[in-house]
Amino acid sequence: MNIPNVQFNNGKVIPILGLGTYDLRGKSGIIAMKHAIELGYRHFDTATLYKNEEEVGKAIRDSGINRNQFFVTTKIWSSDLGYNSSKIAFQESFDRLKLEYIDLYLIHWPNNTKINRIQTWKSMEELVEEGLIKSIGVSNFSITQVQEILNICEIKPVINQIHLNPFNNDHNLINYCKDNEIVIEAYTPLEKGRYFDHEFIQQLSTKYHKSPAQIFLRWCVDNNYVTIPKSANKNRIKENADIFDFQIDIKDLDKLNEL
Ligand SMILES: NC(=O)c1ccc[n+]([C@@H]2O[C@H](COP(=O)([O-])OP(=O)(O)OC[C@H]3O[C@@H](n4cnc5c(N)ncnc54)[C@H](OP(=O)(O)O)[C@@H]3O)[C@@H](O)[C@H]2O)c1
Repeated sequence: MNIPNVQFNNGKVIPILGLGTYDLRGKSGIIAMKHAIELGYRHFDTATLYKNEEEVGKAIRDSGINRNQFFVTTKIWSSDLGYNSSKIAFQESFDRLKLEYIDLYLIHWPNNTKINRIQTWKSMEELVEEGLIKSIGVSNFSITQVQEILNICEIKPVINQIHLNPFNNDHNLINYCKDNEIVIEAYTPLEKGRYFDHEFIQQLSTKYHKSPAQIFLRWCVDNNYVTIPKSANKNRIKENADIFDFQIDIKDLDKLNEL
């Protein structure tokens, strides 16, 4: 499986499709991650909050595949924001993952004070300079909150990971990030299957001979949004990656963008 990359504003790249790992824990979590690796997934999205950084690190180390073939994102939880607390939280994530470096470290939610967000950003910049993190970004940040970081940063955020799918589509935020060379990453890209029965999704599924989930994910790819569907099921992990042999045509894409 050949998963295309998206380029960051720092020249590094991220595979456009990764495995979301929320709720993948313990033995069954590791099995799902190993299935994904066998199928060709190389990008994993975890977080302190998910309590599965150990499992993600283990699945990657056990694969025997070179570390540099993988892309790993983890996130700092909002209550850990602040200069000293973020350094500690990063070290704890790093120790749990047991990988030589983290590809992408995100502020998971902005919910804290402006000063703590800014201090966290400064500490994350230092971790990049120390070589422990390759790229840094944000998640769930509004335009104002991204602007706060852009005002003070020496290293720009590469990405904003947001709740995004055709039924949850914030055009203003997306355009703002694009204008500032910040990649958009779509979480909950399937909206947990809630709209798979929607009439237009069903029409597209029939037209392109693809499942509703594949239509949702291809919508991300055709918009150049990085995406990280979660599945614990081998067949669905495979199905979610089987989206690189078709394209949604521009009229359908426009209609999906306006749902
Ligand atoms: N930054 C943030 O604040 C934030 C917030 C939420 C999520 N995330 C990240 O985004 C990832 C994905 O989001 P999500 O887990 O909320 O939702 P999602 O990926 O939109 O949906 C996951 C749900 O859809 C099911 N599913 C997966 N593939 C399917 C398919 N092909 N057909 C039918 N059902 C399918 C899964 O069940 P099975 O497992 O049984 O297949 C699971 O119940 C998370 O795992 C996490 O890494 C980030």
